[in-house]
Amino acid sequence: MILLDHVTKQYPGDKRPALDDVSLHIAPNEFVFLVGKSGAGKSTLLKMITKEEAPDSGKIIIGGIDLDYTRKKDIPNYRRRIGVVFQDYKLLPARTVFENVAFALEIAGMSNYEIEKTVPKVLELVGLADKGSKFPDQLSGGEQQRVSIARAIARQPKVLIADEPTGNLDVLTRQEIIDLLKKINDYGTTVLVTTHDESIVNHLMKRVITLKDGKIVSDQKQHGIYRLDSDNDGMSGFHNGRPIRKPGQSLSRPVRPAQVATRPAASNAARPTAKIARPAATRSRKPLNTPGRRVI
Ligand SMILES: Nc1ncnc2c1ncn2[C@@H]1O[C@H](COP(=O)(O)OP(=O)(O)OP(=O)(O)O)[C@@H](O)[C@H]1O
Ligand SMILES: [Mg+2]
Repeated sequence: MILLDHVTKQYPGDKRPALDDVSLHIAPNEFVFLVGKSGAGKSTLLKMITKEEAPDSGKIIIGGIDLDYTRKKDIPNYRRRIGVVFQDYKLLPARTVFENVAFALEIAGMSNYEIEKTVPKVLELVGLADKGSKFPDQLSGGEQQRVSIARAIARQPKVLIADEPTGNLDVLTRQEIIDLLKKINDYGTTVLVTTHDESIVNHLMKRVITLKDGKIVSDQKQHGIYRLDSDNDGMSGFHNGRPIRKPGQSLSRPVRPAQVATRPAASNAARPTAKIARPAATRSRKPLNTPGRRVI
């Protein structure tokens, strides 16, 4: 689903590459955490996938598309196939929750009829069925991030990438957002999340890729834990079902093995089908057919 082959990227004026010979493969339906110190190259790696930045060398193939051969005019269309969530939500402040999600569908060319049917289902999925008529400044940070996630998944992308989606949230809300991303992954979407949050990484025990100075120094394919060292064993960070605790390392949330195998089968049938009437906006609403503007 996501393939990077010997990818190197150095920004002009920088002394060292932001990404240095990075190769990785993420299979369809994987949930992957990307961790590393500030400046390690996490956001740059995500920008390679969204084609916001181009590599100096190496190959990138996303969902079978070789990004070397994506023409400039095809980039907006390509980006619409990937859901993107940011730390600071990037919502349209003058639009309601409903309209923020609708806008993403509108620029993807969906008819108003389809939009009216789809948005309530997506808001239901993210737990905001009753907030459609609110404006972003009337929502909590966690709710705003849910809107941002709703907008990112509305077009049912095969890949969802999230750059520090919990960075501005309190501990409990962080967990709720990660649980939501996990739910989206359970429905069949490949999810790649960057984070500095040790506790959520250790709670989920998914694949954890660690970057250091632009290089992958660890790829724990299963039951990964948060660690910034260079034990590139490609294996679990667990021993006898318990996280390996390194000297000086705190694991803020001990995890029991029973939490591992709770994932439901990926199935479209599991998607909610509730129909909810479109809520009325409390402020004047702009028409849906606003000229194209990139949302993701
Ligand atoms: N637009 C840019 N121009 C020049 N250098 C950049 C640019 N963006 C990133 N860099 C540099 O590339 C390196 C990697 O940055 P990147 O933003 O990918 O790190 P990160 O792992 O996402 O860090 P953080 O955890 O702080 O978000 C850093 O040394 C940074 O200074
Ligand atoms: Mg970053």
